Amino acid sequence: IVVVTAIAAGVVVHAWNSAVVDTTGQVTFDRALHIPPLATSEIAPDGVRVFDLTMQRGTTDLGHGPGTRTWGVNGAYLGPTLRAGRGEQVRVNVTNDLGEASTLHWHGMHLPAVADGGPHQVISPGATWSPQWTIDQPAATLWYHPHPHGATADHVYRGIAGLFLLDDPAGGPPLPDRYGIDDIPLVVQDKRFDRDQLDTDEAMFAAVGLLGDEIVVNGTPRPYLDITTERVRLRLLNASNARVYNFSFDTGLPFLLVGTDGGPLTRPAPMRRIQLSPGERAEIVVALPAGATTVLRSTPPDLGADFWQTRFSGGDDEFDILELRAAHTLAPSAHAPEGPVTHEDPGTPAVTRHLDLTGSGTIDGRAMDMSRIDQTVAAGATEVWEVRNSSGAIHNFHVHGTSFRVLGDGHPALSGPKDTVYIAPGRTVRLLMRFTGHPDPAAPYMYHCHLLRHEDDGMMGQFVVVGPGAGPPPEPPAHTAV
Ligand code: C2O
Ligand code: CU
Repeated sequence: IVVVTAIAAGVVVHAWNSAVVDTTGQVTFDRALHIPPLATSEIAPDGVRVFDLTMQRGTTDLGHGPGTRTWGVNGAYLGPTLRAGRGEQVRVNVTNDLGEASTLHWHGMHLPAVADGGPHQVISPGATWSPQWTIDQPAATLWYHPHPHGATADHVYRGIAGLFLLDDPAGGPPLPDRYGIDDIPLVVQDKRFDRDQLDTDEAMFAAVGLLGDEIVVNGTPRPYLDITTERVRLRLLNASNARVYNFSFDTGLPFLLVGTDGGPLTRPAPMRRIQLSPGERAEIVVALPAGATTVLRSTPPDLGADFWQTRFSGGDDEFDILELRAAHTLAPSAHAPEGPVTHEDPGTPAVTRHLDLTGSGTIDGRAMDMSRIDQTVAAGATEVWEVRNSSGAIHNFHVHGTSFRVLGDGHPALSGPKDTVYIAPGRTVRLLMRFTGHPDPAAPYMYHCHLLRHEDDGMMGQFVVVGPGAGPPPEPPAHTAV
């Protein structure tokens, strides 16, 4: 182990495990991939679809015996998959049995800020928080995770995360949609162990935060997936704290990218690899020949960073992640969609906002302050956010409460609706977004780097959406706990 001391803005001491991880050809795929169960729900008398979630502690076998202490939702590790349709009203009763305060955030959801589950919607130990909203956005693979300010990395790493799938009856060409059969969630996370426990010693991790040397998918180490249909849709979620994956198949198998973070691509794009930074999602459709196997891998991502940065961020690591095993006879699937899917016109931007990722704990030179509003946006406004990474380190950028289009980048992976985007050192992205409503000057939304250690260190800002004619926003309370 090499210890690197980096002195940047402020004094930051980082230790770094110098060994590049390469598990290529070394993983024995001996466990069937766990499919997170679909969350049960009930339609309440007021017509609202109601889910009950409990954040709790437990133990899980993540490949180092049954005694590994983990956190989960309605279980010991990760949580069930929530599913709802466009136009539905949903309510989620979230009970916190963790023994410490947390929150639960609906990543990618277009909803009022009071229901968002960001750092202001603290759920005290033993309390239940019951946000309610109407699903009003395209079909998409969203997810949920805690967002308590300063402790997000820890709570997510211990295991609180799950998927929230949105369906749109009117939206787009049919895709494989039998959950767990030909529509498979893949929650990809890296872990590091200290004997049989998760290693949570931050001092052992790199400048980007926690980097593991083993991969779990849906909480399953060394997983394989039996495939029984001609086509399968894989919903990839990078739910890791810091690691960027560059997914491909070891056989070079091509796939069709059909959706990104916030919904379907206008036209599916044939690809052979896709890179996802923390928080990003991709929906891909693969057609494996009968009897064939292939391994989903991650090869070193293109971080657009220099050698030192790449080494310091785990960017040279390679992993074998999941083995797909096609049966000798495959059930027929519908033809792959060709598009086009029509998207709502975001309108013409009236405002260009400039943000600068200035350090691994600052945006625009300031660390997150829960009592400071950094941006004020008019409800219904279309804006361009021009986000520059001047920090010299790798980051990504996520905005709550909306989805955006990445302007001027022809890459298919960035051609669909997004809510999180990687920004290499020295690069600027231009994001076109519309704030569909929900004005509330008292409840801020967040924007931040989704490398969770950076977020916890203050690389986050707050914006409010205000109605027409609103004055300056009041100072928000430090937090409002239930
Ligand atoms: Cu997935 Cu503000 O986070
Ligand atoms: Cu960052």
